[in-house]
Amino acid sequence: MNHFYNPVAVFLGTESAEAFAELFINRYTNVRRVLILTRGGGVEKSDCLQPILNALSHKETLLIEVTLNNPNVSDIWKLKQEIEPFQYELIVAIGGGSVMDAAKVLSALQHKTLPTIVEVREAITHEGYRNKHNFTPWVGIPTTSGTGSEVTCWATVWDEEFGSKYSVSDERLYASAAFILPELTVTMPFRLSVATALDALCHATEAYWSVHTNTVTRVYSLEAIERIRRTLPLLIEQPDNLAWREQLSLASLMAGLAFSNTRTTACHSISYPLTMLYGIDHGIAASLTLTTVLRHNFNTLIEPDKLLHAFGATDVDEVDDLIRSIYNRYGLSSNLSSYGVTVEGIREVVDHSYTKGRMDNNPAPISPEELERMLVALL
Ligand SMILES: [Fe+2]
Repeated sequence: MNHFYNPVAVFLGTESAEAFAELFINRYTNVRRVLILTRGGGVEKSDCLQPILNALSHKETLLIEVTLNNPNVSDIWKLKQEIEPFQYELIVAIGGGSVMDAAKVLSALQHKTLPTIVEVREAITHEGYRNKHNFTPWVGIPTTSGTGSEVTCWATVWDEEFGSKYSVSDERLYASAAFILPELTVTMPFRLSVATALDALCHATEAYWSVHTNTVTRVYSLEAIERIRRTLPLLIEQPDNLAWREQLSLASLMAGLAFSNTRTTACHSISYPLTMLYGIDHGIAASLTLTTVLRHNFNTLIEPDKLLHAFGATDVDEVDDLIRSIYNRYGLSSNLSSYGVTVEGIREVVDHSYTKGRMDNNPAPISPEELERMLVALL
């Protein structure tokens, strides 16, 4: 199907702050209470955010720091208990993927009476939010450059108790607007900068080959891959170089737009147990299998030369060299064993790698036996 849809109004850079604030004031005239979720660290004091916060100054606001990494069902329950009495009518999420995902889940579950963790889990797994008439609108202001959550309509919720990962997904979960401010990413811890850029690289590449790929998606994918390929290796020299941060923010946005229409595929599906069982950062976990899966999918690719070109490569080996060189430059290991994965542990990773709506988006099916061989080769 050659069809692309994304309804998020995107504003780029501080120069668009006034337009963003104007949209805010016009669209939300009748909103009285605004919930502001932030990643913490006083990010709301950043100069570049002041036009937005000024636009909110006539509203009643509640600011909550969401210092979570990969929100769990229990985190969502706690947050919901804490903020529900505020009766918010709009959410502004200033943070990385975890903060924006929390905003989406709160949007989906607001006004649902869920007094226990068990009921929150059931509402998520049984999609109890689907029959709601109105989702709470939200606005995304990313402080990392990788997740793309500001332009996608789903959120990831983890469940440590059951060793599971759920998706809260609905087209009404698209943000009303996204405001991309590269300045906010300059203070990102270095490892997070690299992990999120690798995450975006996977979003773009997986969108390119997904069974749901389309012409528009692939344009965004190629743009995103090229920008990350050119910029990520440089960042180590000047982490506060705003021009490079702008490139990575744009790449993350474009990768987000690309996979907003396709979702992810095998690399992400395999990454979930790697993160859940071994605590490997999301973007690193996804990128560990990127060239292995590229090799596996290669014969299914539409215009493979364009994809290789975006990577600055002429074959898959050169893509592998590029990713290994990025890993080396940033002191990351590409061997699963260095993250604690063992031959025995691989069976469990394989068992948890077949997430519905992710692995089945991969254009070339991967059997459990093939996946086991792939992962053993990466030890
Ligand atoms: Fe991701």
